[in-house]
Amino acid sequence: MENLLVRLKETVSHLEDIIAPFKPRYGVILGTGLGNLTDTIDIEHEIDYADIPHFPVSTVKSHKGKLIFGHLGGKPIVALAGRFHYYEGYSMQEVTFPVRVMRLLGIETLFISNAAGSLNPDIKTGHLMIINDHINLMPDHPLRGKNYEELGPRFPDMLKTYDPKLNQMGLDIAAKHGIECHTGVYVAVPGPTLETPAEYKYMHIIGGDAVGMSTVPEIIVAKHMDLKVFAISVATDMGYPPEVIQETSLEDVIQVATEAEPKVTTVISELIANL
Ligand code: HPA
Repeated sequence: MENLLVRLKETVSHLEDIIAPFKPRYGVILGTGLGNLTDTIDIEHEIDYADIPHFPVSTVKSHKGKLIFGHLGGKPIVALAGRFHYYEGYSMQEVTFPVRVMRLLGIETLFISNAAGSLNPDIKTGHLMIINDHINLMPDHPLRGKNYEELGPRFPDMLKTYDPKLNQMGLDIAAKHGIECHTGVYVAVPGPTLETPAEYKYMHIIGGDAVGMSTVPEIIVAKHMDLKVFAISVATDMGYPPEVIQETSLEDVIQVATEAEPKVTTVISELIANL
Protein backbone atom coordinates (compact mmCIF):
# COMPACT_ATOMS: atom_id res chain seq x y z
CA MET A 1 0.00 0.00 0.00
CA GLU A 2 1.14 3.51 -0.71
CA ASN A 3 2.63 5.50 2.07
CA LEU A 4 0.13 7.43 4.21
CA LEU A 5 1.88 10.72 3.50
CA VAL A 6 1.56 10.26 -0.25
CA ARG A 7 -2.15 9.46 0.02
CA LEU A 8 -2.76 12.43 2.31
CA LYS A 9 -0.95 14.77 -0.07
CA GLU A 10 -3.02 13.56 -3.02
CA THR A 11 -6.31 13.91 -1.15
CA VAL A 12 -5.49 17.33 0.27
CA SER A 13 -4.31 18.79 -3.04
CA HIS A 14 -7.39 17.38 -4.82
CA LEU A 15 -9.65 19.08 -2.27
CA GLU A 16 -7.65 22.32 -2.28
CA ASP A 17 -8.00 22.53 -6.06
CA ILE A 18 -11.80 22.31 -5.68
CA ILE A 19 -12.28 24.67 -2.73
CA ALA A 20 -9.65 27.36 -3.36
CA PRO A 21 -9.55 30.11 -2.13
CA PHE A 22 -11.73 28.72 0.71
CA LYS A 23 -9.74 27.64 3.78
CA PRO A 24 -11.45 25.95 6.74
CA ARG A 25 -10.39 26.93 10.28
CA TYR A 26 -12.61 24.49 12.18
CA GLY A 27 -13.53 20.87 11.57
CA VAL A 28 -16.78 19.17 12.56
CA ILE A 29 -17.55 15.43 12.71
CA LEU A 30 -21.21 14.57 13.20
CA GLY A 31 -22.41 11.41 14.90
CA THR A 32 -25.28 8.98 14.44
CA GLY A 33 -28.60 10.87 14.14
CA LEU A 34 -26.74 14.18 14.54
CA GLY A 35 -26.19 15.12 10.89
CA ASN A 36 -28.77 17.91 10.75
CA LEU A 37 -26.23 20.48 11.91
CA THR A 38 -25.28 20.61 8.24
CA ASP A 39 -28.62 22.37 7.55
CA THR A 40 -27.29 25.41 9.41
CA ILE A 41 -24.08 25.58 7.37
CA ASP A 42 -23.88 28.25 4.72
CA ILE A 43 -22.55 25.77 2.15
CA GLU A 44 -19.81 26.66 -0.35
CA HIS A 45 -18.81 23.20 -1.53
CA GLU A 46 -20.28 19.76 -0.96
CA ILE A 47 -18.29 16.72 -2.05
CA ASP A 48 -19.40 13.07 -1.90
CA TYR A 49 -16.91 10.82 -0.16
CA ALA A 50 -17.02 8.59 -3.25
CA ASP A 51 -15.49 11.46 -5.28
CA ILE A 52 -12.57 12.03 -2.91
CA PRO A 53 -9.39 10.07 -3.64
CA HIS A 54 -8.40 7.63 -0.85
CA PHE A 55 -11.51 8.42 1.22
CA PRO A 56 -13.32 5.41 2.67
CA VAL A 57 -17.01 5.19 1.70
CA SER A 58 -19.66 5.36 4.45
CA THR A 59 -21.99 2.35 4.85
CA VAL A 60 -24.29 3.28 7.75
CA LYS A 61 -27.73 4.40 6.55
CA SER A 62 -27.99 7.19 9.15
CA HIS A 63 -24.89 8.86 7.71
CA LYS A 64 -24.83 11.02 4.61
CA GLY A 65 -21.28 10.53 3.43
CA LYS A 66 -20.37 14.06 2.36
CA LEU A 67 -17.60 16.50 3.05
CA ILE A 68 -19.13 19.94 3.42
CA PHE A 69 -17.25 23.23 3.21
CA GLY A 70 -18.94 26.44 4.28
CA HIS A 71 -19.57 28.94 7.06
CA LEU A 72 -21.04 28.18 10.48
CA GLY A 73 -21.49 31.05 12.91
CA GLY A 74 -19.70 33.15 10.32
CA LYS A 75 -16.54 31.00 10.48
CA PRO A 76 -15.05 28.86 7.70
CA ILE A 77 -15.50 25.18 8.52
CA VAL A 78 -15.28 21.72 7.03
CA ALA A 79 -17.82 19.15 8.20
CA LEU A 80 -17.74 15.40 7.85
CA ALA A 81 -21.38 14.37 7.50
CA GLY A 82 -21.07 10.66 8.16
CA ARG A 83 -18.09 9.18 9.91
CA PHE A 84 -16.31 5.85 9.57
CA HIS A 85 -16.69 3.35 12.38
CA TYR A 86 -14.31 0.57 13.32
CA TYR A 87 -17.26 -1.86 13.55
CA GLU A 88 -17.99 -1.35 9.84
CA GLY A 89 -14.71 -3.10 9.10
CA TYR A 90 -12.53 -0.08 8.39
CA SER A 91 -9.00 -0.07 9.73
CA MET A 92 -8.08 2.52 12.34
CA GLN A 93 -6.04 4.30 9.64
CA GLU A 94 -9.18 4.54 7.48
CA VAL A 95 -11.35 5.66 10.41
CA THR A 96 -8.96 8.53 11.16
CA PHE A 97 -7.89 9.47 7.62
CA PRO A 98 -10.45 12.32 7.34
CA VAL A 99 -9.14 13.93 10.56
CA ARG A 100 -5.65 14.01 9.10
CA VAL A 101 -7.02 15.50 5.86
CA MET A 102 -8.95 18.21 7.73
CA ARG A 103 -5.83 19.07 9.75
CA LEU A 104 -3.72 19.39 6.61
CA LEU A 105 -6.44 21.57 5.04
CA GLY A 106 -5.71 23.99 7.88
CA ILE A 107 -8.19 23.43 10.71
CA GLU A 108 -7.12 24.49 14.22
CA THR A 109 -9.89 22.90 16.29
CA LEU A 110 -11.97 19.76 15.81
CA PHE A 111 -15.58 19.48 17.03
CA ILE A 112 -17.05 16.00 17.40
CA SER A 113 -20.53 14.76 18.29
CA ASN A 114 -21.69 11.22 18.99
CA ALA A 115 -24.51 9.11 20.40
CA ALA A 116 -23.56 7.22 23.54
CA GLY A 117 -24.94 5.05 26.31
CA SER A 118 -25.00 6.66 29.75
CA LEU A 119 -23.00 5.03 32.56
CA ASN A 120 -23.88 7.75 35.07
CA PRO A 121 -27.32 7.77 36.76
CA ASP A 122 -27.36 11.61 36.63
CA ILE A 123 -26.93 11.62 32.84
CA LYS A 124 -30.41 10.78 31.56
CA THR A 125 -31.59 9.87 28.08
CA GLY A 126 -31.55 13.00 25.93
CA HIS A 127 -28.99 14.83 28.09
CA LEU A 128 -25.71 16.10 26.65
CA MET A 129 -22.25 15.32 27.99
CA ILE A 130 -19.15 17.29 27.08
CA ILE A 131 -16.21 14.86 27.09
CA ASN A 132 -13.39 15.87 29.47
CA ASP A 133 -11.43 12.62 29.35
CA HIS A 134 -11.61 9.16 27.82
CA ILE A 135 -10.81 5.50 28.39
CA ASN A 136 -9.84 3.67 25.22
CA LEU A 137 -11.09 0.07 25.18
CA MET A 138 -10.77 -0.31 21.41
CA PRO A 139 -8.72 -3.38 20.41
CA ASP A 140 -6.56 -1.48 17.92
CA HIS A 141 -4.78 1.88 17.91
CA PRO A 142 -4.69 4.40 15.05
CA LEU A 143 -1.04 5.24 15.74
CA ARG A 144 0.16 1.63 15.80
CA GLY A 145 2.91 1.01 13.27
CA LYS A 146 5.28 3.42 11.55
CA ASN A 147 5.18 6.92 12.99
CA TYR A 148 5.30 9.83 10.57
CA GLU A 149 7.29 12.53 12.39
CA GLU A 150 5.92 15.07 9.88
CA LEU A 151 2.46 14.45 11.37
CA GLY A 152 3.30 14.13 15.07
CA PRO A 153 5.43 12.46 17.75
CA ARG A 154 5.89 8.71 18.33
CA PHE A 155 4.58 8.90 21.90
CA PRO A 156 1.94 11.66 22.12
CA ASP A 157 1.16 12.92 25.61
CA MET A 158 -2.57 12.77 26.42
CA LEU A 159 -2.77 14.99 29.53
CA LYS A 160 -4.31 18.05 27.85
CA THR A 161 -6.38 16.31 25.19
CA TYR A 162 -9.72 18.02 25.95
CA ASP A 163 -9.53 21.82 26.06
CA PRO A 164 -10.85 23.07 29.46
CA LYS A 165 -11.54 26.55 28.08
CA LEU A 166 -13.65 25.24 25.19
CA ASN A 167 -15.46 22.86 27.56
CA GLN A 168 -16.33 25.72 29.92
CA MET A 169 -17.56 27.81 27.00
CA GLY A 170 -19.72 24.86 25.90
CA LEU A 171 -21.18 24.47 29.40
CA ASP A 172 -21.93 28.20 29.59
CA ILE A 173 -23.71 28.14 26.22
CA ALA A 174 -25.77 25.11 27.29
CA ALA A 175 -26.69 26.78 30.62
CA LYS A 176 -27.72 29.98 28.82
CA HIS A 177 -30.17 27.98 26.70
CA GLY A 178 -31.44 25.79 29.56
CA ILE A 179 -29.88 22.67 28.00
CA GLU A 180 -29.10 19.76 30.38
CA CYS A 181 -25.37 19.33 29.85
CA HIS A 182 -22.84 17.40 31.93
CA THR A 183 -19.12 16.77 31.62
CA GLY A 184 -17.58 13.32 31.88
CA VAL A 185 -15.44 10.45 30.73
CA TYR A 186 -16.21 8.69 27.43
CA VAL A 187 -15.38 5.00 27.15
CA ALA A 188 -14.67 3.81 23.61
CA VAL A 189 -15.58 0.26 22.62
CA PRO A 190 -15.40 -1.44 19.20
CA GLY A 191 -19.07 -2.46 18.98
CA PRO A 192 -21.21 -3.41 17.18
CA THR A 193 -22.95 -5.07 20.15
CA LEU A 194 -24.21 -2.80 22.88
CA GLU A 195 -23.03 -3.75 26.34
CA THR A 196 -24.25 -6.47 28.67
CA PRO A 197 -25.40 -5.26 32.09
CA ALA A 198 -22.12 -6.53 33.57
CA GLU A 199 -20.12 -4.62 30.96
CA TYR A 200 -22.00 -1.34 31.62
CA LYS A 201 -21.36 -1.86 35.36
CA TYR A 202 -17.67 -2.52 34.73
CA MET A 203 -17.37 0.68 32.66
CA HIS A 204 -19.14 2.64 35.39
CA ILE A 205 -16.75 1.23 38.03
CA ILE A 206 -13.62 2.06 36.05
CA GLY A 207 -14.73 5.69 35.82
CA GLY A 208 -16.82 6.01 32.67
CA ASP A 209 -19.81 8.34 32.31
CA ALA A 210 -20.76 7.38 28.75
CA VAL A 211 -19.87 4.60 26.31
CA GLY A 212 -19.82 4.64 22.53
CA MET A 213 -18.29 3.14 19.42
CA SER A 214 -16.48 6.13 17.94
CA THR A 215 -14.68 9.43 18.62
CA VAL A 216 -11.60 8.22 20.52
CA PRO A 217 -9.62 7.10 17.43
CA GLU A 218 -10.32 10.49 15.82
CA ILE A 219 -9.35 12.30 19.01
CA ILE A 220 -6.09 10.38 19.34
CA VAL A 221 -5.12 11.31 15.78
CA ALA A 222 -6.21 14.92 16.37
CA LYS A 223 -4.00 15.07 19.47
CA HIS A 224 -1.14 13.47 17.54
CA MET A 225 -1.41 16.32 15.02
CA ASP A 226 -1.69 18.95 17.78
CA LEU A 227 -5.33 19.86 17.15
CA LYS A 228 -7.57 21.36 19.82
CA VAL A 229 -10.60 19.17 20.46
CA PHE A 230 -14.18 19.65 21.67
CA ALA A 231 -16.33 16.52 21.84
CA ILE A 232 -19.92 16.13 22.98
CA SER A 233 -22.14 13.08 23.46
CA VAL A 234 -25.90 12.69 23.45
CA ALA A 235 -26.97 10.04 25.95
CA THR A 236 -29.36 7.90 23.90
CA ASP A 237 -29.88 5.10 26.45
CA MET A 238 -29.04 4.30 30.08
CA GLY A 239 -26.60 1.52 31.02
CA TYR A 240 -26.33 2.03 34.77
CA PRO A 241 -27.66 1.04 37.25
CA PRO A 242 -28.69 -2.33 35.76
CA GLU A 243 -32.39 -1.91 36.68
CA VAL A 244 -32.80 1.00 34.25
CA ILE A 245 -31.35 -0.73 31.17
CA GLN A 246 -33.82 -1.25 28.36
CA GLU A 247 -33.49 -3.09 25.08
CA THR A 248 -32.17 -0.57 22.54
CA SER A 249 -32.20 -0.66 18.73
CA LEU A 250 -30.43 1.55 16.20
CA GLU A 251 -33.81 3.18 15.54
CA ASP A 252 -34.11 4.07 19.26
CA VAL A 253 -30.62 5.57 19.25
CA ILE A 254 -31.34 7.58 16.10
CA GLN A 255 -34.67 8.81 17.46
CA VAL A 256 -33.20 10.14 20.71
CA ALA A 257 -30.17 11.59 18.93
CA THR A 258 -32.37 13.31 16.33
CA GLU A 259 -34.54 14.84 19.07
CA ALA A 260 -31.46 16.12 20.92
CA GLU A 261 -29.74 17.26 17.73
CA PRO A 262 -30.86 20.93 17.88
CA LYS A 263 -29.25 21.22 21.34
CA VAL A 264 -25.95 19.88 20.03
CA THR A 265 -26.15 22.22 17.05
CA THR A 266 -26.75 25.18 19.38
CA VAL A 267 -23.72 24.37 21.53
CA ILE A 268 -21.34 23.68 18.64
CA SER A 269 -22.43 26.55 16.39
CA GLU A 270 -22.40 29.16 19.19
CA LEU A 271 -19.03 27.89 20.32
CA ILE A 272 -17.61 28.28 16.82
CA ALA A 273 -19.24 31.72 16.44
CA ASN A 274 -17.62 32.86 19.71
CA LEU A 275 -14.09 31.73 18.83
N1 HPA B 1 -23.25 1.46 24.02
C1 HPA B 1 -22.37 1.67 23.03
N2 HPA B 1 -22.55 2.55 22.06
C2 HPA B 1 -23.70 3.25 22.07
C3 HPA B 1 -24.66 3.09 23.05
C4 HPA B 1 -24.44 2.13 24.08
O1 HPA B 1 -25.26 1.92 25.00
N3 HPA B 1 -25.69 3.93 22.79
C5 HPA B 1 -25.33 4.61 21.65
N4 HPA B 1 -24.13 4.20 21.22
